[in-house]
Amino acid sequence: MNRILILAPAVVAVACSVAAQPPAPGAPAPVPLFSDGVIKSFTPADNPITDAKAKLGDMIFDEKRISTDNAIACNTCHSPRNGFTTHTETSRGVGDQLGKRNAPSILNAMFYKSMFWDGRAETLEEQATLPILNPIEMGQKDPTDVVAKLAAIPEFVEAFQQVFGHPVNWADMGKALAAFERTRLSTEAPFDRYLHGDEKALNASQRRGWALFTGKARCGTCHTYDAALPLFGDNRFHNTGAAAQKQDYNQLAARAARTAAAGSQAEKDKLALETDFSELGRFLTTQKKEDIGAFKTPFLRDVLLTGPYMHDGSLETLWDVVGFFNKGGERNPFLDAEMKPLGLSENEVDDLVNFLGALTSDRFGDLRAAELDRQRTAFLYRRAVQHQTANRGR
Ligand code: HEC
Ligand code: HEC
Repeated sequence: MNRILILAPAVVAVACSVAAQPPAPGAPAPVPLFSDGVIKSFTPADNPITDAKAKLGDMIFDEKRISTDNAIACNTCHSPRNGFTTHTETSRGVGDQLGKRNAPSILNAMFYKSMFWDGRAETLEEQATLPILNPIEMGQKDPTDVVAKLAAIPEFVEAFQQVFGHPVNWADMGKALAAFERTRLSTEAPFDRYLHGDEKALNASQRRGWALFTGKARCGTCHTYDAALPLFGDNRFHNTGAAAQKQDYNQLAARAARTAAAGSQAEKDKLALETDFSELGRFLTTQKKEDIGAFKTPFLRDVLLTGPYMHDGSLETLWDVVGFFNKGGERNPFLDAEMKPLGLSENEVDDLVNFLGALTSDRFGDLRAAELDRQRTAFLYRRAVQHQTANRGR
């Protein structure tokens, strides 16, 4: 298992080195997935996207000096080279502190109705400044310190003046970051070409996978397909039992159901990222019993490149994810009513994974096949080791 884990990142680094906008060598030119009209309708009127603003947002996104120890930028955890994620289970911030959650991709995040796995922030603007003040992410104590740091860097002074017409300030940092994030979007994938009438864009296994996705495997009940916004998410929260894989989850849930949790945004952020209460998910925000252990349904575009999966990075490959849903998730008192054992055969699991691969943008070209191979090898290797260990134990 260790051997695979050591080998795996090397392949990923190659596979995902083009995860930013430029296409892979030999890959077709990227075709936009969303019309300008759709993008505009999801952009707040008081923060229109301009090239200069998105460029400033990009500069801030890449700037390590906004963290307290000048070592962590947004892109440390949301690396463009890795599909705007990190291929680690959960992420590390200042002083090498390890958080409780897996860093999601920021690709298409503008289309979420709320941000974070538990939706505790409403908008990209509101979300953007939270990591800077989080003690284990970027570690700053006070917005004025951050503003003072940027205001001492001439290129930021100039860019803020040009974009906003005044000196560096906190709220505009959030606006520029959000504008940049609204330019990071998935592009056309084989699945889209298939829907546009190109039968050959999907192979037979991927076509069977699509039928299973909306049929027997019931994925589409939560990862809804909407032709106007084809992202495969319902913008809602569900308890799939991913959190219940943790040993002390039931105890935690029982305790939470009796006591109400935190108040302020900063307190919620702390609970979610630094404590075992992280596993309570949406409950931290709503304090409704039915939200215990519920997390946001993630969009599935480019999902091949964003592993490990789930809010805690607990599932390494797409085979593990489909296997998890196949057994009906993890039983617990708050399990979503839609979670049921599916009875999928091994071939059907393969078909579903192959279909998920077809949701990954054409700009990644042949590298998609390499990542699928890496995941298959990692999964089969781990399963073989587990069988061997189980046999030895007899
Ligand atoms: C130390 C690693 C780390 C740093 C630094 C970091 N993030 Fe994140 N980011 C995460 C994690 C982990 C989550 C998920 C947390 C959660 O859901 O509770 C997240 C969530 C997000 C989301 C929500 C996406 C979604 O699907 O809901 C956005 C947007 C985002 N980060 C943008 C940023 C920006 C902008 C910065 C820089 C100001 C930044 N992040 C810095 C780790 C990091
Ligand atoms: C009851 C709603 C529901 C159903 C049904 C469902 N999902 Fe999910 N899915 C979710 C939620 C919620 C998460 C995040 C859970 C978490 O992190 O704790 C998730 C996570 C995932 C992820 C991980 C994505 C990432 O970025 O980490 C993949 C892949 C996925 N689902 C695919 C599928 C497939 C394939 C099926 C059908 C076999 C399916 N889902 C069925 C709600 C659902």
